[in-house]
Amino acid sequence: MTTPTPLTQDELKTLVGQAALQFIVPGDIVGVGTGSTVNKFIDALATVKEQVRGAVSSSVASTERLRAIGIPVMDANEVEQLSVYVDGADEIDGQGHMVKGGGAALTREKIVAALARQFVCIADESKLVAMLGRFPLPVEVIPMAAAHIVRRFATLGGKATLRLKEGQPLVTDNGQHILDVTGLSITDPLALESQINQWPGVVTVGIFAHQKAQVCLLGTAQGVKTLRY
Ligand code: 5RP
Repeated sequence: MTTPTPLTQDELKTLVGQAALQFIVPGDIVGVGTGSTVNKFIDALATVKEQVRGAVSSSVASTERLRAIGIPVMDANEVEQLSVYVDGADEIDGQGHMVKGGGAALTREKIVAALARQFVCIADESKLVAMLGRFPLPVEVIPMAAAHIVRRFATLGGKATLRLKEGQPLVTDNGQHILDVTGLSITDPLALESQINQWPGVVTVGIFAHQKAQVCLLGTAQGVKTLRY
């Protein structure tokens, strides 16, 4: 008997992107995150687009993709509440706390997530961790505060590095910069999120603990597992 070939990470992303369709309420507006896993969700949405009234998007990139498949994209200010927000994560722990922002969209992701009754995280199993902090923590900052915030992270034992794109500081959809912080031990995600959020010049920290996932659709070698928090 031959052993089946394990699914690739890309195939796992496709599976969880498709699995997220079960959370779409027909006729509703859906919150859409950013990243390669979400791109699979957007591909899946294309197959049911007549059931989707519209979307609120967390990035220019996702907006372009949604419009390309014919899904209207609304401004977040036009929508009071969403039934569901679907997004990926760079890390997710056993309580549904996440690190996000690897795609630099963390601020808009947190805003759209705040509109939703339910955060459905879609991720392959490489993203599941016992404790957050292995992935460098993204923090969106106002450029004039960057050096000060780097020093503040140093007092916590963290090393913050300005994210570059083609040799220049990466500029987010909001016109700001990103610091990526290594060396932190995130033993209390709720407390650390609150603490960093208070520093002057921090726009958003990529810890999503106050706005954690309620559900994670995790792509594993055994198929899609549904984790609830
Ligand atoms: C973008 C994000 C993404 O959700 C996160 O980086 C995961 O991306 P991918 O699905 O490509 O692994 O937070 O800001």
